[in-house]
Amino acid sequence: MENQQAIGVFDSGVGGTSIWQEIVTQLPFENTIYLADSKYAPYGTRSSDEIISLSIKNTERLIDLGSKIIVVACNTATTNAIDYLRTHYDIPFIGIEPAIKPAALQSITKSIGILATKGTLNSNLFHSTMDKYAQDVNVLEVIGEGLVPLIEANQLESEELKTLLTSYVELMLDAGIDHLVLGCSHYPFLIPQLKKILPTHVKIIDSGLAVAKQTETVLSLNGNLKIEGIGSHMLYSNKDVGVLESFVSRFRESELKNNTVNIRYLDF
Ligand code: DGL
Repeated sequence: MENQQAIGVFDSGVGGTSIWQEIVTQLPFENTIYLADSKYAPYGTRSSDEIISLSIKNTERLIDLGSKIIVVACNTATTNAIDYLRTHYDIPFIGIEPAIKPAALQSITKSIGILATKGTLNSNLFHSTMDKYAQDVNVLEVIGEGLVPLIEANQLESEELKTLLTSYVELMLDAGIDHLVLGCSHYPFLIPQLKKILPTHVKIIDSGLAVAKQTETVLSLNGNLKIEGIGSHMLYSNKDVGVLESFVSRFRESELKNNTVNIRYLDF
């Protein structure tokens, strides 16, 4: 039965588990398959053509493994490749994009910051979203250079990461931002560090929950929602299984008590 098939999720690495966690929380009966393409991370410094090829590779593997829908849990892959994927594959895709619209609407200072990869900030899709929703606000775009490799190396608490993050945030605070949009699915793992650096009036916006809700809506419209049973989850890394395990483990202990979770190495 098609609703027994999995929600396939991919990212350039472990960061998309921030989105996967939202999906599993929102849709507790669903089976999932997660691909962490850490061997090829970061995507954010690659050309658009390379990002499209990597997205094709991940999509085809997720289809082979039995996905009924694919969540592109990576802003860089979404903004560069989702149009191509939607045109070439007959499976629904859900993407993640920087949440500029709510930040622009809610901003009082009319100044917002966005932290994202070079690949996302340079993409056509990002520029058209900016044209649509950010006409009336000042948007300070900052490339989070160096952050993804440190997160992929599980260096969340390192001094190097803290120094980089502080320098990026300071640029935005100087511009008077009151909202900080996290435009990369790796960055929600930096929220504890960001909260130590940011003044309390600056609101952090990320898109994880919206992606999970959109996944639910599309599955429901297609009659593909799995609404009973126990969710089973397969997570694969093509690089360091230990790092993926550590990103998933805290959540696994608190939220996934009854579900089956397997984390394995896979060459893809
Ligand atoms: N998680 C990816 C994103 O949302 C990280 C990009 C990268 O690998 O550079 O953009």
